[in-house]
Amino acid sequence: MYFYDGRSYGDFFNMGEYSRMGYEPVRKKISIFDTTLRDGEQTPGVSFSMQEKYEIAMKLNNAGVNIIEAGFPAVSIDEFKTVKHINYDIENTCSLARCNKNDIDRVIESNSRIIHLFIATSDIHMQYKLKMSRDQVFDKIIESVEYAKSHGLKVIFSPEDATRSDMDFMKKIITSIDVETVNFPDTIGIMNPMSMYYFIKKIKEFTDKKISVHCHNDFGMATANTLAGIMAGAEEAQVTINGIGERAGNASLEEVVSSIYGFSDSYTDIKMEKLYDLSRYVSSASGIIPQKNKAITGENAFSHEAGIHVQGIINNPKTYEAINPEIFGARRKIVIGKHSGKAAVKYILENKGIYKTDDEINNILTIIKNENNKTIDDEYLLQVVKNE
Ligand code: KIV
Ligand code: ZN
Repeated sequence: MYFYDGRSYGDFFNMGEYSRMGYEPVRKKISIFDTTLRDGEQTPGVSFSMQEKYEIAMKLNNAGVNIIEAGFPAVSIDEFKTVKHINYDIENTCSLARCNKNDIDRVIESNSRIIHLFIATSDIHMQYKLKMSRDQVFDKIIESVEYAKSHGLKVIFSPEDATRSDMDFMKKIITSIDVETVNFPDTIGIMNPMSMYYFIKKIKEFTDKKISVHCHNDFGMATANTLAGIMAGAEEAQVTINGIGERAGNASLEEVVSSIYGFSDSYTDIKMEKLYDLSRYVSSASGIIPQKNKAITGENAFSHEAGIHVQGIINNPKTYEAINPEIFGARRKIVIGKHSGKAAVKYILENKGIYKTDDEINNILTIIKNENNKTIDDEYLLQVVKNE
């Protein structure tokens, strides 16, 4: 398999014989719908400025994202203006709206071409939040889809809290509307990969509409559930950069895209080498720094400290790396600390043009190891070398 720029999949992914087993292999393009600017901004405490939103939208567009959810225009005047500003320069955007005329009008006025309409369909949401009956919700959906379409909008429809909604009710809705895509949100993140697979398969029994999945991370399953949805037949994934979003967040774009390549025969339009920079930008604009051990974009994702690992990495990075970080525009790091061996010290020094004998390296290592529990940065290492 090759990436869009002709680079070979095998040069970057070091998977094993069993990595792709247990599912029916299908080769298809998975569309990536990014909602960093909408669900991502719903992360408690996060608010992007207009300039930051515009910058993120541009970066998402340059990274090959298929649909960018620019925002929720009915939320505020500023949000409306920002969405309009983004829509002016970027074509493949979409805006969120509840199933009511006012929200839909804001989307139309913001010059969006695609509307993401949503309304809750689970009994618990209808009873306690919407205070509406199933029939009332159904009528709202029909009315709203018709209204949006009559204004030339393409429609993505989400039955909110889909994974707790009655399947027959969803069937009635989905088979009654003519929309581009139906997106199934696991709104409170209560699925696991097996149940998600089953859920999407069930939906595919009664529709051949394009299916998208939107998974939250309350049990830490968002990426796995998104992948399971794709393996069951979904053709689009709703994701955010760094997995930011409500509560424990959404499925992360960088993890989902990597998993599509790592575990399936499918592919995306994403330019993987843009992802590291995108992650760093979103992290600084949102103030949400990915946890150090987060896959792909965490600071430690491509760092190696233990002596045995470093020796392996120096001989052949495929020994301890599932994915070559260069594919994301990132670099591997050899870190010196309590678990380091001679190879790491030698490697770092030689990369700086400093050549030492084995005895000298041993002495340096002894000093470092006495620095119990600390990660030794380059500056400190050079100080030790100087003193030695
Ligand atoms: O999680 C959710 O249900 C949502 C919908 C608005 C799609 O974000
Ligand atoms: Zn969501």
